[in-house]
Amino acid sequence: MNPASPRTVDVGGDHPYTIAIGPELLSDGARLAAHVRGRHVLVLSDSSVAPLYATRVREALRRQRQDLLVGELVIPAGESSKTLESFGAAVTALAELGATRDACVFALGGGVVGDLAGFAAACWMRGVDCVQLPTTLLAMVDSSVGGKTAVDIPQGKNLVGAFHPPRAVIADTDSLHSLPARELRAGLAEVIKYGAIRDPLFFEWLKAERGALLAGEAAALAQAIARSCEHKAEIVERDPLEKGERALLNLGHTFGHAIETEQGYGAPHNANLNHGEAVAVGMVLAARLSAKLGMAGDADTEALRGLLDAYGLPTALPAGLAPEALLARMRLDKKNVAGRLRLVLWRGIGKAEVVPDVDESAVLDVLRGG
Ligand SMILES: NC(=O)c1ccc[n+]([C@@H]2O[C@H](COP(=O)([O-])OP(=O)(O)OC[C@H]3O[C@@H](n4cnc5c(N)ncnc54)[C@H](O)[C@@H]3O)[C@@H](O)[C@H]2O)c1
Repeated sequence: MNPASPRTVDVGGDHPYTIAIGPELLSDGARLAAHVRGRHVLVLSDSSVAPLYATRVREALRRQRQDLLVGELVIPAGESSKTLESFGAAVTALAELGATRDACVFALGGGVVGDLAGFAAACWMRGVDCVQLPTTLLAMVDSSVGGKTAVDIPQGKNLVGAFHPPRAVIADTDSLHSLPARELRAGLAEVIKYGAIRDPLFFEWLKAERGALLAGEAAALAQAIARSCEHKAEIVERDPLEKGERALLNLGHTFGHAIETEQGYGAPHNANLNHGEAVAVGMVLAARLSAKLGMAGDADTEALRGLLDAYGLPTALPAGLAPEALLARMRLDKKNVAGRLRLVLWRGIGKAEVVPDVDESAVLDVLRGG
């Protein structure tokens, strides 16, 4: 099956690759197999995604290359699987497959699978290929692009990981049809983030296209994914290792990660906020902190809060999280330097900036609702 040409976004730099965005790509054996240099493939997926799409991928690969040895590892769905234990299972699966240095790991799933598979690929024999096959909107617009890989430990999210750019990203937009509405909205939080940090026109477009995007209309979604990927590609190309401007992509994330860590990495169906939702709350907290520090006006905070709210996303801290405990989590963020809080704040829509040494008492005030 050869679908009509998908949209593509190129990511340049030392390890260039292409992001393909379009329908029916998980059945496109030629496209999938084009990135397999050797004979060994491990398809890593989760318990919700594998039953829907893993056979499609395996069969497409096999149709194209009968000589391939294709293994499969399925982890339980959800953030609670992004652990050192799952990492152990992934490298064990590669060992059992007899994977050599030209092996390829296919990450079939959302950001959890993508981060875990990428990290396993980064470590197996000091680095084998990884092809990202994102099946959540969040993974299509963010986590599959840029080469950040990681697992969580109880002390914090993503604390153990590596930079390992994928060999390709293949985003089959048909897979979004099975995505629960809550997960679609979580992805839209990261899409809104691009507007908030660097693209006021896109922010306006997102206001106008709310109905189409929430209804899952293909053309609007493809446009939102492509524009988001263009932004991410432009930034990671210039700053692959997050020494500077790449940190801007973390608007709302220091607050968000603290929320996620403090509430525990529960399954997405429970009352806990998932990653995109935590980022939505985090962006509003970052905007409020920016206003408190005199960097931006309250109208900007309100515009962001209003848009997130219109997309059905949470904009306030859930009850039961202690501000002091959240601050303690924020102190462990990877962006901090020399023990000082370094946060992404903004000067209004489209104007995010990294602020070193943020006053902790102002952060605490904002966490307390002040
Ligand atoms: N590496 C990065 O740069 C980066 C960036 C942003 C987020 N992340 C990470 O990404 C993770 C969040 O990713 P996520 O929101 O995709 O979560 P996820 O991978 O847990 O997926 C969300 C849920 O949707 C299910 N699912 C996935 N695709 C589906 C489909 N097509 N149909 C039906 N169900 C489907 C999954 O099984 C899961 O239950 C976090 O761990 C976060 O830290 C990484």
